[in-house]
Amino acid sequence: MLEKLDQTEQKALAELAHLDDEESLLQWRAEYLGKKSTVTEAFTVMRELSKEERPLVGKRANEVRQALESAMEARREAVKQRELMKALETDKLDVTLPGRTPQVGHLHPVTQTMRLIYRIFGDMGFQVYRSREVETDDYNFTFLNMPAHHPARDMWDTFYTNQEGVILRTHTSPGQVHAMREYHPDPIRVILPGMCFRYEQVSYRSEMQFTQVEGLAVGEDITFGDLKGTLSDFARRLFQREVRTRFRASHFPFTEPSAEMDMECFICGGEGCPVCKYTGWLEILGSGVVHPNVLRFGGYDPEKFTGFAFGIGPERLTMLLHQIDDIRNFWRNDLRFLEQF
Ligand code: DAH
Repeated sequence: MLEKLDQTEQKALAELAHLDDEESLLQWRAEYLGKKSTVTEAFTVMRELSKEERPLVGKRANEVRQALESAMEARREAVKQRELMKALETDKLDVTLPGRTPQVGHLHPVTQTMRLIYRIFGDMGFQVYRSREVETDDYNFTFLNMPAHHPARDMWDTFYTNQEGVILRTHTSPGQVHAMREYHPDPIRVILPGMCFRYEQVSYRSEMQFTQVEGLAVGEDITFGDLKGTLSDFARRLFQREVRTRFRASHFPFTEPSAEMDMECFICGGEGCPVCKYTGWLEILGSGVVHPNVLRFGGYDPEKFTGFAFGIGPERLTMLLHQIDDIRNFWRNDLRFLEQF
């Protein structure tokens, strides 16, 4: 028995040296210290041994058991340590690495143009006046000198809502009447920026949804000359150079006389191309002297007050500023396009 204990001890210790995980350590313990192990067997057979042999075997069995138990604890500790080192090695955390910078966006190119426009008119003494996108038929048409059923309403293809008399504004002009009703009888110098909606065929020149910046000046001695000077100066300040512009007689129900301002086409330089419909000019705004009926609807006496108004298309201006040839890019949400500005 003594010999068997010696052999078992040697074998067990030799095997233990190769174990490197908790599971095999437990198996090892079952084998060498469990019920069917040599050590347990030694304690069982002891009873049948002679008086002389019994203490020897008992002592030796205890020694072996203790040796194996402490060797196993030591091994277990070593395994744990090694696993920790391995984890430290593979899950290495380098606190000196620079952080990942979050992607920072920027203003949409049209918003940038809008802000340029605000700044220029701000310098000229105009305040920003905001009004609603969902409008009444009265503000969008009637108060702008287009009574119900007047054919001039057909100039704007309109999104109607299922609430009688409520529509999406087709232009920022209804804001003029809101501003007048708030300011009268004081003089006014405001710009009215915002989104407009038209039930229209989308093309490279026009979208269903677009922004406008309306302008309105009302006072006692305002003339068409003020309008021309203000808008020509606006174009110069915006493009920061002398730009070729022209005022072309036009018609809007809410102004009399009315004019559109064109800018030389940036694509063809005035030669004529598809973008300018072969005219060499691009329309950038509509304008005119405020119609007496509109002043009246706003609460001003047209005998005493006059005014001018205009409506700018910031998308068009952005196209001119950055030589963009398709207005649909603005709503496509394609970062490859937007990141360029
Ligand atoms: N509201 C017009 C449109 O959407 C643009 C416009 C023309 C605005 C003349 C004005 C104006 O204030 O005086 O087409």
